Amino acid sequence: MVFDDLRQFIEHAEGLGLCKTVEDTDWDLEIGAITELGLYVPEGPLLIFDKIKGYPAGYRVVTNFLNTPRLVALGFGLPPESKGLGQVQGWREKISEEFRPVPPVDVETGPVKENIHFGDDVDLFEFPVPKWHEHDGGRYIGTGHLVIQQDPDTGWVNVGTYRVQVHDKNTATIFMSPGKHGDEIRKKYWARGQSCPVAIVCGEDPLFWTMSHSGVPREVSEYDYVGWLRKKPIEVVRGEITNLPIPAGAEIVLEGEIVPPGTESRAEGPFGEWPGYYASGSRAEPAVKIKAVLHRNNPIILGAPPQLGPYDYYIGKNVMRAAIIWNDLDKNVPGVKGVWLPTEARGPNMIIVSIEQKYGGHAKQVASFLAGYYQSAFMLRFVIVVDDDIDPSNYADVLWALGTRCDPEKSIDILRECWATWLDPMLTPEKRAGRDLTHSVGIITACKPYSWKEQFPQAIKSSSGLLKSTREKWGKSVFGLS
Ligand SMILES: Cc1cc2nc3c(=O)[nH]c(=O)nc-3n(C[C@H](O)[C@H](O)[C@H](O)COP(=O)(O)O)c2cc1C
Repeated sequence: MVFDDLRQFIEHAEGLGLCKTVEDTDWDLEIGAITELGLYVPEGPLLIFDKIKGYPAGYRVVTNFLNTPRLVALGFGLPPESKGLGQVQGWREKISEEFRPVPPVDVETGPVKENIHFGDDVDLFEFPVPKWHEHDGGRYIGTGHLVIQQDPDTGWVNVGTYRVQVHDKNTATIFMSPGKHGDEIRKKYWARGQSCPVAIVCGEDPLFWTMSHSGVPREVSEYDYVGWLRKKPIEVVRGEITNLPIPAGAEIVLEGEIVPPGTESRAEGPFGEWPGYYASGSRAEPAVKIKAVLHRNNPIILGAPPQLGPYDYYIGKNVMRAAIIWNDLDKNVPGVKGVWLPTEARGPNMIIVSIEQKYGGHAKQVASFLAGYYQSAFMLRFVIVVDDDIDPSNYADVLWALGTRCDPEKSIDILRECWATWLDPMLTPEKRAGRDLTHSVGIITACKPYSWKEQFPQAIKSSSGLLKSTREKWGKSVFGLS
């Protein structure tokens, strides 16, 4: 099933009993803290905050929308009961066909134009924008959002997720890391002495949101990519002042321009970031002047604040990322049997790969490939390679391998001066001052040593055949298993 917009997705999730409406909360920390609490609840609900203090009923915030395998399955169109490596496999199948762009189609109008405000009528505080974390520098409307920009030279429309802070009724900031596509595009306008037109979509189909931060290649529009995934074009309307394409079913859209540096700026941050710290602190960022706001009746802000907890949105993102990495590994090395990015290690920081070892050096080859290649190298801290009898998404298995098949003296290597970011909490003050964005990567092979793996002691686990037949005969009567 594919969804045209956020409401369709929520409607289906409600139909499956996966949602919980919470009323009478405060945008100031309370929504953020309840969202965080939900990250510790296995199979916790998608949260719909309504009747938020100081705001009309119907002006909602939705969080925890891709935090469980059930929600990921719904949002990504995977089998309802799938989880773990099964979801990674499912996503691999979805992207196995050759990519063919499916461009968006323009429609005359859409629900996003039910309300339009210009000039003095623009008020970003019209919406219950949460302050998510205790030490955030302000309220962030953009966490589960899309930032849309168009390359002035080529016409390429890029869609990214770059956090958006609200400063006053018509001023925001966007934090774009150097080198991200959005940063590249805005600099092209600035080089011409112009402001960069931008549309910020706060509330869209979760699949589209996930694709906006999942490494769609440069010069490929996320619109075309999501159209291909959905097998139908996204319907768009044109922005009122930017003429940028906007999903017709979007909840809230802020249209404006990012002024050139030195013209007008605001102190952006601190903000609770995905590695789990407020590492990039606060600094001056160019102002984003909002000139028009479009929104549906009873609009919904989609919120995805980075928070710590085992059931956060990285479950969905990591499924996709693992599938992409697995496909690319398959094109370069043989024998890969599973790829997993543990949410608890903060998404891309750790990658676990299981392989059927085929030759000496095979495990190290896999690890060193990952340490250098675009989809995996960014902020990578550890690669762990295990044998194919280990499920990389099963931490008991992985720890068993680490505890019994790893001789630290021979099994650990360190690559120095690899690709880091300002968000890295381990960047020393000296490195920050010197703009030295690097850290090391640990490569751990927790595999039976290839040269004598046939003599490696046999594991005591029962064979899968014996366990299966035992479960069929005894599972129900002894343990109540179905
Ligand atoms: C919730 C969330 C917030 C993010 N915030 C930022 C941000 O503030 N700045 C940034 O550069 N990247 C941020 N990212 C990562 C980018 O979205 C990601 O690198 C994406 O690939 C950028 O798009 P691009 O490749 O088209 O530049 C965020 C990702 C998520 C999931």
